[in-house]
Amino acid sequence: MNRTGLSLVAAAAVRVRAPGKVNLSLRVGPLQPDGYHPLVSVFQAVNLVEDVTATAAPPGQGITISVEGPGALATPQDHTNLAWQAAHLLAARVGTRADVRLHLRKGVPVAGGMAGGSADAAAALLACDALWGLGLPRTELLELAAELGSDVPFCLLGGTAVGTGRGHLLSPVMAKGEYHWAFGASDHGLSTPAVFREFDRLHPGGRPQPTIDTESDLLAALRAGDAAALGASLHNDLQPAALALRPELADVIAAALEDGGALGAIVSGSGPTIAALASSAAHARDLAHRWTEEGLVAKGWTTPSPCGGARLMG
Ligand code: C5P
Repeated sequence: MNRTGLSLVAAAAVRVRAPGKVNLSLRVGPLQPDGYHPLVSVFQAVNLVEDVTATAAPPGQGITISVEGPGALATPQDHTNLAWQAAHLLAARVGTRADVRLHLRKGVPVAGGMAGGSADAAAALLACDALWGLGLPRTELLELAAELGSDVPFCLLGGTAVGTGRGHLLSPVMAKGEYHWAFGASDHGLSTPAVFREFDRLHPGGRPQPTIDTESDLLAALRAGDAAALGASLHNDLQPAALALRPELADVIAAALEDGGALGAIVSGSGPTIAALASSAAHARDLAHRWTEEGLVAKGWTTPSPCGGARLMG
């Protein structure tokens, strides 16, 4: 019996897919005593996805992680992996044993500012919930997600949403239309805490508390499904910090905007991945091709947005 009173038959293996994200806008306030910065961010889920398969493991085996896909070698397979932490947290919360094998198939650039690790955590939460026949309500899963990391709740929710607090308090946003993106990933990721530290160094007096009012143009563009207006409204307060740590990223942005005719181009989240908004799927492919041809990025990706949040695949 689960908490909703339904009898669920626990499955032997469950696969869950969760999306990466792009921050259409990211505004960062002053560092707080808890070590976090208050944010206002408009997130959109993109169709670069992580697949997590949870398989029942013999009692006492604990949590094991295996990884495949681009960036697999750079992904930890121990308790520092957010998917491991998600299974551990969920088991502790409901008082069950965490005996599970988690297999991660990575489709989101690793340590790229697109929430690949957070998507793994969101997928692992949902997969273990189903594997163990728990049936926790979404609200409870969202609370657990927020304990795991600021971006994990959005990877559960998907779509388009405004995040406040640490980025974890979400309100869905009305968004029309489909958008087309090119993403340019670097060989070496950037650490999110390091980018926030650089942000603090660049703003020693702190920054004013951001408010959602600043996003009115962006939200109007989304309501109208106007890609050109959205491109003009893309914004990232962390961009100067990411560029200070990786000056070469400025060339990736310039190539998209000046030569490639992108509608907008910014550092994605804490970087180093660059997100360029294109006017069509073909234009996005052209932008990604241009970056790789010119040797500006290690790998180019194209994807539409928005897409849904974490979901069971079977
Ligand atoms: O929440 P998460 O674990 O993803 O955050 C990683 C790090 O990024 C934090 O330890 C903190 O240094 C920084 N961060 C921040 N303000 C936020 C979110 C993250 O300073 N709102």
